[in-house]
Amino acid sequence: MASLQELGAEVAKLCEALGSQLKAGNHPEPSFAVDGPERYPHDPAIQMSRFQLLDKIRDLLYLTTGPADFAFMEVPLFVSRSNGPPSQAPHSIIALHSPPSERVKETNTTKHFQKAQHDVINLNVLNEFDFFGIVPVEGGASYAEIAEATRLPEELVRRLLRYSFTMRVFAPDGPDRVAHTPFSAYVARNPMLKSWIGHNGDECRTAGLGFVRALREFTVGKPEVSQEIDEGGFSMIMPRRKDGSRTDFWKAAEDEPWRVKRFAEAMQVTGMSAMVSIDVVIDSFDWAGLGNATVVDVGGSDGHIMVPVARKHPSLDFVVQDLPRLEPDFKKFMAGAASDVAPRFAWQAHDFFKPQPALPGGKEADLYFLKHVLHDWPEKYAVKILQGLVPALKKPGARILLCDSLIPPLEEAGHLPKVAQKGMAMADMQMMMMFNAQERTPDIYARVVAKADPRLKIKNMISIPGALMSLIELALE
Ligand SMILES: C[S@@+](CC[C@H](N)C(=O)[O-])C[C@H]1O[C@@H](n2cnc3c(N)ncnc32)[C@H](O)[C@@H]1O
Repeated sequence: MASLQELGAEVAKLCEALGSQLKAGNHPEPSFAVDGPERYPHDPAIQMSRFQLLDKIRDLLYLTTGPADFAFMEVPLFVSRSNGPPSQAPHSIIALHSPPSERVKETNTTKHFQKAQHDVINLNVLNEFDFFGIVPVEGGASYAEIAEATRLPEELVRRLLRYSFTMRVFAPDGPDRVAHTPFSAYVARNPMLKSWIGHNGDECRTAGLGFVRALREFTVGKPEVSQEIDEGGFSMIMPRRKDGSRTDFWKAAEDEPWRVKRFAEAMQVTGMSAMVSIDVVIDSFDWAGLGNATVVDVGGSDGHIMVPVARKHPSLDFVVQDLPRLEPDFKKFMAGAASDVAPRFAWQAHDFFKPQPALPGGKEADLYFLKHVLHDWPEKYAVKILQGLVPALKKPGARILLCDSLIPPLEEAGHLPKVAQKGMAMADMQMMMMFNAQERTPDIYARVVAKADPRLKIKNMISIPGALMSLIELALE
């Protein structure tokens, strides 16, 4: 094992190497200036160097933290929670909706974790009370102004910000004022990030809180994890539905429509990560080879994923399918940011557990595209989703293209930096807590596809070094 000094020297060497790569490519130096570059270039070689450097920095961080402090400073345990935008938040839902026996369990669990995850809680509070929007990027704001705009006591505002300064989120500007840093300014400039923070800080944290209970109730002692989405962490904490049944994330969205918009925006934000961009992954498929073709984006949300593809490939047209509640988001997106390609996009409400319907305008599909869809569902449901598509693969050459993480088997993962492995393992944890679902390995995909239909085969798997997502192409034999 490397010592503190050896790790430090390796970090210095890797910094040198990354700096030279950036210079050679004429890319700007990373900086803490408020208008410094927001992201590293989407270049797989640079991203790989960056991952190696992050790996070493993390090792250095862990070594410096030491075992006794590790659980408090590094382990991301999800703790307390809120419920959506302040104006819509129900009051203490655990107290109101859980039977008394569950209330006791909940209190114990909450107490147990109370020392962890302050970073996420702090960010979630700043986000819910819109500190990012309230403080102008140019000029900053005084504590008194923030207190007035948030309607929180000034002393509390000061305490919350004193914590966030330690994450380089906002910075003190004299005794009475606050300025943006590049991290806080990035949220202010990209307001959809608020939906990403809200979804993670609220819904995913809720799922984390209920996860152990879900495992105890539904999985422990069984050969496989529960296959029911309403037996996951999220469902353990959320109040039951009006009819007394357990909710799950999708049913909660049906019952509380503000969740739909926030989630659609959060999904758009996943493409803003500084790692190898999702557009680079999607571009690695031969779209031009489809010729004049119809692509169906199944579970396509507001349609944002196919818009860059549409811009590059004018011979393609698109049908976006999702649940009826997404139609307003689709219409808004097509009328705004995507208006240049909107005439080539059609909307179709469709539940992907039902057989594929005839497409609008009598079109026949050449490709069914599913991004971030199968990973949301336990295996038996993932199989059903594919089974709904198989009878619709009628056109010669018709295919299914999945876009999800492809987790390398453990024995082959060693060459990947742990940072990249962690990204996928984190997504896997998220699916586990939220839905009893998972990110899949090639073997698991092969099993799911075989269960769906023996004629359905994996034709191709495309992975790009440094990217968290892959493409998996399926067709009938
Ligand atoms: C994780 S999101 C992915 C959205 C989009 N493909 C993307 O990558 O940004 C999953 C999508 O599946 C949709 N969905 C959930 N259940 C569905 C169902 N039964 N039928 C159709 N769509 C569904 C959700 O509304 C959501 O838009």
